[in-house]
This record gives sequence, C-alpha cells and structure tokens, in this order.
Amino acid sequence: MQGVHFLLSLLVLGLASSFASAYDPSPLQDFCVAVKDSEIKSALFVNGKFCKDPKDVTANDFFFSGLDKPGNTSNRVGSNVTQLNVDKIPGLNTLGISLARIDYAPYGLNPPHTHPRGTEILVVVEGTLEVGFVTSNQQDGSNKLFTKILNKGDVFVFPVGLIHFQFNRGYTNAVAFAGLSSQNAGVITIANAVFDSDPRINPDVLTKAFQVDKNIIDYLQKQFWVDNNN
Ligand SMILES: *[C@@H]1O[C@H](CO)[C@@H](O)[C@H](O)[C@H]1NC(C)=O
Ligand SMILES: *[C@@H]1O[C@H](CO)[C@@H](O)[C@H](O)[C@H]1NC(C)=O
Repeated sequence: MQGVHFLLSLLVLGLASSFASAYDPSPLQDFCVAVKDSEIKSALFVNGKFCKDPKDVTANDFFFSGLDKPGNTSNRVGSNVTQLNVDKIPGLNTLGISLARIDYAPYGLNPPHTHPRGTEILVVVEGTLEVGFVTSNQQDGSNKLFTKILNKGDVFVFPVGLIHFQFNRGYTNAVAFAGLSSQNAGVITIANAVFDSDPRINPDVLTKAFQVDKNIIDYLQKQFWVDNNN
C-alpha cells in the first residue's frame, strides 16, 4: 500500500514538473533577442509568428499543393529538399510539426546536417538510401554512428540536433518524405556552416580544428557550397 502511495506521489510530481516546464515555449527560430520596453516599437519579431485574426483564416492557410513534383537534383550534391514549414504553410504556426520531400539523383547525397529544433522521421518511397546519424560526444570521447540501408517503405528516425545524412546508393532516383517535430526545425549543413560562413571563419581556427595544412582549409573555403534546401 505504501508502495502504491509512493508511486502515486511520483506520478503527481512528474505531472507537476511537466506542467511547470510546459510554460516557456521552445525557441522557434535561431534567436529571439529581447528588446527594452522603451524600444518596443522596434520589436518586429516574436518567438514564432504573429497570429492571423481567426475570422480571416481559411482552409488555404492549412494547404499546400505540388509535393508530387520532384525538386531539381542537378546540383553538386545531387539532392533537393523541398521543405514545407511554417513559411510555406502558415497554419503550422505553434503546432510543432512540418514536412519535407527529398529527391536524390543516382549517388545523390543529402550532406551531413542537423536540425537544431526538430527530430525527423523519414520514409523512403522510391530507391535505396544509406542513412545515418552520429551521437553527441560520449563520456569516452567517441561519437557513435547509427547507420542503415533503407529500401522503399523503410522508415528511420534522426533525433533532434544530431548530425545525419542520406546517400542514394542505387542506380535509380530516390525519393523520401520526412516529418519534423517543429514548425521551423532549421537546417545546419555542416560543410556550409564551417567553410562557407559569412564572413569566413579565421582559417587558423579551422586549420587547428581539423588538424590539416592551411592550404587544405584555403581550398575548402574557396569551394562553392550548395544549399540543397528550398
Ligand atoms: C531544387 O528544386 C527546385 C524546384 O525544381 C529548384 O527551384 C531549386 O533551384 C532546386 N535547388 C537546388 C539547390 O538545386
Ligand atoms: C534543373 O537545374 C539545372 C541547373 O540549374 C537546369 O539546367 C535544368 O534545366 C533544370 N531542370 C528542370 C527540369 O527544371
């Protein structure tokens, strides 16, 4: 009996803390710098988007047409991500979910990237993909790779924030759809962020970080790094 009470108390405590932590919304964009009350007129952004007057809302606010059309994969990485986030479907605001279609040319790659605000669940509808994600730094200093070959109908999950990729192993085109647990999950393409930032990161920083000759960093910083996200 005492055990039951103990379990009930734990349950109540758990619920209380989940209510408490449900108060602050998670970030919905990269940053949301506070403004002083006296400067409030210059505050144009909120965490998320402003809400439309409900009486002006129509079915089209929750609608998108054209996801049957493949993205153009004629680019350096041979892939194209069509994102349907809150910018494309305004009705997604505050709902914590979005969608993407990803097309891959033969040997096309959706290069290593992370979604800072969303977990991804991906389903392959055509072709064969080699996919994987890498954990954050573990206590022993390692980063563990979880990888899998996916065929049509296979599903894989990429946990929020972790670096992941998909590579088309087949001779055919490949197509996947992905759900993301944010209205604006964000994308950080690793190579682009590191070698193509604006302005460039000091090459001495990258030379030391990657433990290579400076001319390799110079070479990488001069490349054209395509963003395959639309
Ligand atoms: C992705 O596909 C769309 C639609 O075809 C195209 O407008 C866009 O330029 C493509 N992006 C890249 C990076 O190839
Ligand atoms: C795809 O993009 C390439 C490179 O920008 C372009 O030459 C080609 O016409 C595009 N294909 C389609 C179907 O739009």
